[in-house]
Amino acid sequence: MPHCDVVILGAGAAGMMAAIETGRRGRSVLLVDHARYAGEKIRISGGGRCNFTNINATVDKGRDRFLSANPRFALSALSRYTPDMFIALVREHGIAFHEKTLGQLFCDGPATQIITMLLGEMRKAGVTLVLETSVESVSRDESGFAVQLSTSSVTAESLIVATGGKSIPKMGASGLGYQLATQFGLRLTETRPALVPLTFEAGALEKLKPLSGIAADAIVSHGKTAFEEALLFTHRGLSGPAILQISSYWREGDAIAVDLLPHRDAGDMLRAARKATPKLQVQTVLGNVLPKKLAQLLGEELDLPGMIGDFSDKKLAVVEAMLKAWTLKPVGSEGYRTAEVTLGGVDTRDLDAKTMAARDVPGLYFIGEVVDVTGWLGGYNFQWAWASGWAAGQVA
Ligand code: FDA
Repeated sequence: MPHCDVVILGAGAAGMMAAIETGRRGRSVLLVDHARYAGEKIRISGGGRCNFTNINATVDKGRDRFLSANPRFALSALSRYTPDMFIALVREHGIAFHEKTLGQLFCDGPATQIITMLLGEMRKAGVTLVLETSVESVSRDESGFAVQLSTSSVTAESLIVATGGKSIPKMGASGLGYQLATQFGLRLTETRPALVPLTFEAGALEKLKPLSGIAADAIVSHGKTAFEEALLFTHRGLSGPAILQISSYWREGDAIAVDLLPHRDAGDMLRAARKATPKLQVQTVLGNVLPKKLAQLLGEELDLPGMIGDFSDKKLAVVEAMLKAWTLKPVGSEGYRTAEVTLGGVDTRDLDAKTMAARDVPGLYFIGEVVDVTGWLGGYNFQWAWASGWAAGQVA
């Protein structure tokens, strides 16, 4: 049976980074993926421009920006492999990029440049990549791991599991990483779709549907967590960066609140309108500061007929509350079909934060999205994939 030092399962962002780093150390590395191409999620990421990191995915700022049962777990890898280190690699390969917003770095050109860069580094590091190959079974004895592939068998000293999460099954997502964790006695935390559009029950959806395609700047909050970004109405519910972000915090049965006039005093605005344009209906007043169709929906929801000039302060306060904290109760999310990431995964209590090694299974590592670490939208998840892959790559 052929032998190599390290077998890596999953040629996504984390697996490719781990392959580069282990290969650079002179280890013989076999990287296996069942997909036809490596890095398929990189290719479609960031709307095809790959938001490959975020300059704020650092230990100090990253502290609150990664969700996990143990939010401190990610910090060691993030401190050792920083956004600057990935940026240096991108520059070395002459890939042009720009900051879009909030520290998010995107390629100027196609995301495939990042894949080409990683494949080039893998070649230099002597990594063997096999695609369209599935993993049938994995076993372990004192000498190491035996991996039965659809095409052959291989033994290895170390096994790195980088098979990602459950999102977008049609792009190759599978439960293999979770199965292997369970097989080797590691615990799992509950998994759920995250960075995902939210959906509504039929009656609410019917009301929201006419707004499909409308975008508005908003602050969307859930408890103490709030995101100020665009909100997008779709024919299925709510999307846009603000909603994707809050979806990682939202749970079934919870409401979210939407501030439709960020940084504006809605009370002042309404009192000024009462004085200056007393004959207007409330939805006409709202139409001066919001998209017309949205103003119309809010007007219907408020159900406050009459001219604004006749509104008491109490009535104005009701309108103000609607503008500053419009409360919506999603019933669910679009699920793994469209979720960017999976929340939860391999329990970090069973992994070493410095190396990503399983505490009780020598030679076994879990990296990237399969681990219970999930970043905010905006390049945080790739930075976690690079950093955790790099960390395992130093020791495996
Ligand atoms: P990833 O999913 O990338 O790779 C896992 C690999 O394992 C895949 O190649 C898969 O084929 C393989 N595999 C799975 N099961 C297997 C099996 N049974 N046998 C063999 N191989 C198997 N993040 C970000 O930071 N910036 C961004 O711009 C975006 N944009 C974005 C857009 C969309 C549409 C999605 C769905 C996601 C993003 N993300 C993102 C999230 C980002 O893509 C994600 O966090 C990383 O790809 C995770 O990297 P991993 O290597 O852990 O998994």
